[in-house]
Amino acid sequence: MCGIIGAVANTEVTPLLLEGLQRLSYRGYDSAGVATITATGIARSRAEGKLQNLINKVANDPLPGHIGIGHTRWATHGGPTENNAHPHASDKVAVVHNGIIENYQELREELAARQVRFESETDTEVIVHLITHYINQGMTPVEASRKTLARLHGAFSLGIIFKGEENLLCAARQGTPLAIGHGKDAMYIASDALALAPLTNQICYLSDGDFAVLHSSSAEIFDASGNKVERPIRTSAVSAAMVGKGEYRHFMLKEIHEQPEVLGDTINALMHPGTGAVYLPEMQIDFAKINRLVIAACGTAYIAGMVAKYWFEKFSGLSVEIDIASEWRYRSAPVEKNAAMLVISQSGETLDTLEALRLAKKSGYASLGIINVPESTMAREADAVIFTKAGPEIGVASTKAFTTQLATLAALALHAAQVRGTITAETQRALTAHLREIPALMAEALHAEEAIKTIAYDIHTARDILYLGRGTMYPIAMEGALKLKEISYIHAEGYAAGELKHGPIALIDEDVPIILLAPPDALLDKTLANMQEVAARGGKVLLISDAAGVARARDTAAWTITMPACDPFVAPLLYSLPIQMLAYHIAVLKGTDVDQPRNLAKAVTVE
Ligand code: M6R
Repeated sequence: MCGIIGAVANTEVTPLLLEGLQRLSYRGYDSAGVATITATGIARSRAEGKLQNLINKVANDPLPGHIGIGHTRWATHGGPTENNAHPHASDKVAVVHNGIIENYQELREELAARQVRFESETDTEVIVHLITHYINQGMTPVEASRKTLARLHGAFSLGIIFKGEENLLCAARQGTPLAIGHGKDAMYIASDALALAPLTNQICYLSDGDFAVLHSSSAEIFDASGNKVERPIRTSAVSAAMVGKGEYRHFMLKEIHEQPEVLGDTINALMHPGTGAVYLPEMQIDFAKINRLVIAACGTAYIAGMVAKYWFEKFSGLSVEIDIASEWRYRSAPVEKNAAMLVISQSGETLDTLEALRLAKKSGYASLGIINVPESTMAREADAVIFTKAGPEIGVASTKAFTTQLATLAALALHAAQVRGTITAETQRALTAHLREIPALMAEALHAEEAIKTIAYDIHTARDILYLGRGTMYPIAMEGALKLKEISYIHAEGYAAGELKHGPIALIDEDVPIILLAPPDALLDKTLANMQEVAARGGKVLLISDAAGVARARDTAAWTITMPACDPFVAPLLYSLPIQMLAYHIAVLKGTDVDQPRNLAKAVTVE
């Protein structure tokens, strides 16, 4: 999973490629590279580590050329070394690739038998050598590329340039996204429109199986059967401005603090301006007619779906099945009549979620997406979409995307309850009012940050941390653990508090802090009883509750964080903030790369 970019223009392209790579680095950041075609052949520069290493290298040793390709990598086959960094090249062709070539081993053996020497451990290098082989047999670069594509299995998008061809860029898409940008006397390719925003807003997206032949002033696209096709060119709304950190040290901190505002935007867009009730006039799924909702998503988005299950079942009586997208798509779940599929995704590009969506559509499910990036593949493919209004989320750890997903799911559950007639108008009004209070409550909750910093200092040296919660706080406990793991590299687990005594209690000693999420809901007494069980075994508890909850447990808890009082319905939104801030400040104390933690990428476009 990686970001790719390419340009064929009448100007020097390397600076354009490097800026594009900066915008694509959310897709992977373990190494990067660029290649251009010069009068003498292929020029290439690659660097291990962050993109800045490549920028420094190119500054010392510039790459001239009016045509080029670039890549920012998240390693799949072969470690994140310079040798494995893209573009991969022979003396005749250079290739950038996003995705996985599943039959690369077989192709590699075939090429090795022809005495081809491989320089990297990647799956991508077979593409380079196959194209080179066909060119050596007398095919044109376009013919050689098409012949090669026909031999590849897997999901990929490609950019290909050729020695001696200073006005020819080939591109292909099979399963992973690729946009073509139409500029003035220039054509571009990129994994998304954001990368091309400073260059052009005239974008078309390749469909699966498409192959494109680009010159600086023309683009021809051929479908999987080789027929010339037109793909619509749309004016992209993506802004050319680079999103900055403002006064904040990290994007993650900025995004945590943006939550009152983006939650306000998200919630307002889901409400009728006059009545203030949940209002989804364009909802194409008739919740009165379905008897099951299947939710598929990954990571934090999956956890948002877990919270939604509690809401849908409680308020609308609709039975909800929630599954990790990579599991659902392979486990042959029976296709049910009158069921709908809901996918949740910040990026709209996560491959497992996208494939779950495609499988659901093929199986006859009506499909709905809750998506943050409007120009994403899922947004284009789902039957109906509700957009979260989180704005660009740059930090790899999801924060504002998560809470805007929760707000949208809360409103959707109320909508389902309304059309299914399972709640009274009065209850719906009361619950909606609680949702509308969220931006203000979040603004207040952010005041706990100084206290959280102190607690972070006390526990940042722990090796393991347990998060516990009941009801909707169980998924939030999982989210707390996920956030902490991904940015601080501390091992953490989120458990249903009632499950503690069935195994995890054995882990408890004074070195394993326990974070207990205990809003004042119907389960508070039981959750506090779990706290006593922990304390009785020497465990140190951080209790997160409102003032009343904190007052009841002050003597037992080692630390407390006080949240504003809220209705239990909206507690998952509010209680997400302290766990985000805690993970952030622990990671800062540990000195990790908060916005780009090791081994991760923002959008995971491989299986
Ligand atoms: O873009 P998506 O919402 O589909 O991404 C899904 C997960 O990869 C993502 O939520 C991931 O778990 C986050 N890094 C967690 O903070």
